[in-house]
Amino acid sequence: MHPAFFRKFLLFAELDDRELAAIAAVAKPRRYAKDEVVFHADEAGDVFCLIREGRVKVTMTSPEGKEIILSTMGPGDFFGEMSLIDNEPRSASVIATERLDLVTIWRTDFLQILSENFSITRKLLAVLSRRLREASARIESLATMDVYGRLARYFLDLAAQQGKILDNGYVSVVRPTHQSIANTIGTSRETVSRLIHDLMKQNLLLSEGKTIYLKKDALEQFRAEL
Ligand code: CMP
Repeated sequence: MHPAFFRKFLLFAELDDRELAAIAAVAKPRRYAKDEVVFHADEAGDVFCLIREGRVKVTMTSPEGKEIILSTMGPGDFFGEMSLIDNEPRSASVIATERLDLVTIWRTDFLQILSENFSITRKLLAVLSRRLREASARIESLATMDVYGRLARYFLDLAAQQGKILDNGYVSVVRPTHQSIANTIGTSRETVSRLIHDLMKQNLLLSEGKTIYLKKDALEQFRAEL
């Protein structure tokens, strides 16, 4: 892989050519098909992963076998850092939800890169802080909101991450499956389908092919009430 390729990752944005070449020398590509498991929770971890193309979901399984989605990630995001930093087993499973193209770095190389480049360490800590904030917000909404509120918050977060504002008063996002929404907000697929049907009846949400459209005013009003 060409060193300049690594500059696209925010984590490496401040490195000079020599430092990028050092990363390129130890990084290896890995590919996964849709639905393939990259890591299983609880297994030993020895590699750090950056997403070049595709998406993953980070999941845990409840004692009854239900999937809980902790997060989803896409191009430019990274995962697998926790086991390398704390020497504990993988904290969650990571599963490809699309064809996945990764860049991987082995434990010893990763730890050496962190010790030599404070700019990378600081960016990594910033991302870990953001993930902790998101997890706290999730705990708050599970503890204080009903399922309708959690669904509204889910759409608000989705719109903030990837929404495109359109002229007609709606924000478009890629349509997640009802099952994956349910597994993210801690409810059943049937409940998600029923609530989405209600939102559609009120024209707060429109669905077309792989896209859904969320009414911008309603999102803003919900954000103001949070
Ligand atoms: P690791 O524990 O090595 O393997 C699983 C990875 O999933 C973990 O590193 C993190 O990169 C990622 N991960 C675990 N929990 C969360 C979470 N709550 N939010 C986002 N990412 C997570």
